[in-house]
Amino acid sequence: MSDPTTLPAWQALRENRRQLTDVSLRALFRDNPQRFNQFSLQLDELLFDFSKNLLTEQTLSLLSELADQTGLRTRIDALFKGDKVNTTEGRAALHTALRNRSKRPVVLDGQNLMPQIEQVLKQMGDFSDQVRSGAWRGYSGRPITDIVNIGIGGSDLGPLMVTEALKPYASDNLRCHFVSNVDASQLCETLKPLNPETCLFLIASKTFTTQETLTNAYSARHWFLSQAKDEKHIARHFVAISTNPERVVEFGIDPVNMFEFWEWVGGRYSLWSAIGLSIVLAIGKDNFAELLSGAHLVDEHFRTAPWTENIPALMGLIGLWNANFLGAESQAILPYDQYLHRFPAYLQQADMESNGKSITTQGKEVNYTTGPIIWGEPGTNGQHAFYQLIHQGTRLIPCDFLAAANSQNPLGEHQQILLANFLAQSEALMMGRTAAEAQQEMENTGLSAAEIERLLPHRTFPGNRPSNSFLYRRLDPKTLGMLIALYEHKIFVQASIWQINPFDQWGVELGKQLAQKILPLLTGESTIGTHDSSTCGLIERIHRLRE
Ligand code: F6P
Repeated sequence: MSDPTTLPAWQALRENRRQLTDVSLRALFRDNPQRFNQFSLQLDELLFDFSKNLLTEQTLSLLSELADQTGLRTRIDALFKGDKVNTTEGRAALHTALRNRSKRPVVLDGQNLMPQIEQVLKQMGDFSDQVRSGAWRGYSGRPITDIVNIGIGGSDLGPLMVTEALKPYASDNLRCHFVSNVDASQLCETLKPLNPETCLFLIASKTFTTQETLTNAYSARHWFLSQAKDEKHIARHFVAISTNPERVVEFGIDPVNMFEFWEWVGGRYSLWSAIGLSIVLAIGKDNFAELLSGAHLVDEHFRTAPWTENIPALMGLIGLWNANFLGAESQAILPYDQYLHRFPAYLQQADMESNGKSITTQGKEVNYTTGPIIWGEPGTNGQHAFYQLIHQGTRLIPCDFLAAANSQNPLGEHQQILLANFLAQSEALMMGRTAAEAQQEMENTGLSAAEIERLLPHRTFPGNRPSNSFLYRRLDPKTLGMLIALYEHKIFVQASIWQINPFDQWGVELGKQLAQKILPLLTGESTIGTHDSSTCGLIERIHRLRE
């Protein structure tokens, strides 16, 4: 595959960018009353409005050409049919098979994966039925009241985000807790109010070798045994979710209590697999099935829709336009939906661990921008924190606004106020405020001419700042499944055009390896280290401070 920047479509997009230099979004809307209709799409009950982006029909058609010239269709087909798209690890990335609700088989290395996927789904459903109904008892005969998921990265962020988002669908009898950080404070604070007799620990780790997870899991086991005393009770209180049965047994968990998944499920794409056990426990198997069907609906759409009607493809292409042609470095995720408060954090791993790469699949260094910095907080809180920089700062920050038409907690005018802010922010970013408007406003408040002149530059702002809006009826399991899958595929689209592998994460490894080397210097098992003077100085200071 050739460098995408040398392709005719990339060159034409550069020219298109030049032509749009003096064009404003304000003018595009003024001159075309149909702009919203032309630049928005509906999928099931989800509306995607991309009209407030600095682009025209011509830009879209060039972006579609770029998708064609970079072979996006072939890449999508390869993803879905289980080709080893994770080239550095020689693996398929078949998260789409986990939510395949069609009757179509998914074949990998000559074997249909669907029976084993269905079997684990059933195991998860049966187990959660038992726990949720109270039939599954702890060692002293009491039902489970608290689930503690111990995992990190993809084995934490997805399930945590989803259980928070779907709280209105969760059982009142089970509380879910998530422990990820190796900082003992998280585990200790989580366990403080809990009773080992009524706790169920889910040890979630694809590899079952992750230092943070195993350290937390052993400490949780110790906490449990300090009251339960007998190791035979572990079977009622610890289950494992992993691809590594040997390590699970080594930890002391009965393989009967293991929920399996497979190496072709990437960590950050794993919430649809057994890693989603905490979700099934919280919301039940039927709601989990709805989550899967929402994602499946998007998978079918992504596989089949032409680029200009394909929401994840457009999300990816527009993001690429903003990054590579308009110079945006980051992407803000702004849910006007409190239940999505962990969505930005979840997308940070999904996007940045996937597309934070600078070497192509051909082993060449890229000469163009790849994965954006993902960040965000729920509206309206962000408005009173960082929106000033988005409105008037020196950087271009494309924003994704997300909102439900209906609140899960209707209360007075709250939802209308929330939605008014959701609409106002994207409009303000797009329109800005001209000097004439600012002047008129100040004149109306009776300010003197001198004051108006002094304040005018501060109260004028350029607008022309791009955003997407996602609007849905209500944040139910199916809608959430759709939203997650849309972003997963957006990430894939961008990786395909940038020609990087979104499914490995070698960059995380170096830090892990160095931590293993430094640990003996902190525990006192070793005094010899070959580190730089800063690291040595800090180690020495830690020893002194710890004394
Ligand atoms: O952060 C690196 C990483 O490998 C992630 O990709 C993964 O989600 C996380 O660590 C946890 O890995 P595991 O599930 O194997 O414990």
